[in-house]
Amino acid sequence: MNGGQPLYIVMLGAPGAGKGTQARLLSEALNLPQVSSGDIFRENLKNQTPLGLLAKQYMDAGGLVPDDITIDMVMERLGRPDCADGAILDGFPRTLAQADALDQALARQGRCIGVAPLLEVADEAVIERLAGRRICRECQAMYNIDSSPPRVEGRCDKCGGELYRRADDDPETVRNRLFVYYKQTAPLIGYYYAHRLLVPLSGERPIEAVQADLQAAVATAAAGGRVR
Ligand code: AP5
Ligand code: MG
Ligand code: ZN
Repeated sequence: MNGGQPLYIVMLGAPGAGKGTQARLLSEALNLPQVSSGDIFRENLKNQTPLGLLAKQYMDAGGLVPDDITIDMVMERLGRPDCADGAILDGFPRTLAQADALDQALARQGRCIGVAPLLEVADEAVIERLAGRRICRECQAMYNIDSSPPRVEGRCDKCGGELYRRADDDPETVRNRLFVYYKQTAPLIGYYYAHRLLVPLSGERPIEAVQADLQAAVATAAAGGRVR
């Protein structure tokens, strides 16, 4: 796809907007890896690595992990062979410094970002969604006890794994994550708009409808067309 050019997609949106849900579906559809900075931090925490333990103090408070640590971690991931044809970035970049570092790293390899879809969801919906989110411990499949519940309570439909609630999904921490989003990440909307890569999509529709629009936006970008 993308005329043989590697395709890098940056998923934008507030906490709970559906970045992970949509990135995973897109990853299956395009056969490109989903690179989620939050998932990598959580995996490190699960394995009690120094990186995981360091990230925990920021994540628990709903703040951002420092740029230098996050940038090194994601760049290492993007440098692996499975990202040679591109990747779907979910949760990174999240600051202008991270966006800049990503652009520079890709440019050094003659690459660039193809499209930056923005999932738009109101704050109240975000708080409600995150209160109901459940994740499989084994395969990371995503559920919502209100909008997409598992067939058996507390168990993953796909692998039978135990479902858990993220520690940072309590309403108090979610409010801080939203505050941090508006302060530090929302400026990226202007950044990608200025680079003619931004595609705003309404995220408050059924998951499949959002995915269809997302795939259409990616197809336009991959065909070399202007996304706006
Ligand atoms: P991260 O894991 O990236 O969390 P986040 O950005 O807060 O986003 P979420 O994962 O909460 O939401 P999402 O948009 O993926 O929504 P989801 O698909 O799950 O980061 C966690 C922490 O790590 C940060 O706070 C920070 O500390 C650190 N970190 C990570 N990246 C960093 C970086 N680059 N720099 C510095 N620090 C970093 O959906 C949410 C729920 O809604 C689910 O239950 C889902 O089933 C449901 N849902 C999804 N779509 C729909 C729909 N269309 N309709 C109804 N319900 C839906
Ligand atoms: Mg996520
Ligand atoms: Zn599972």
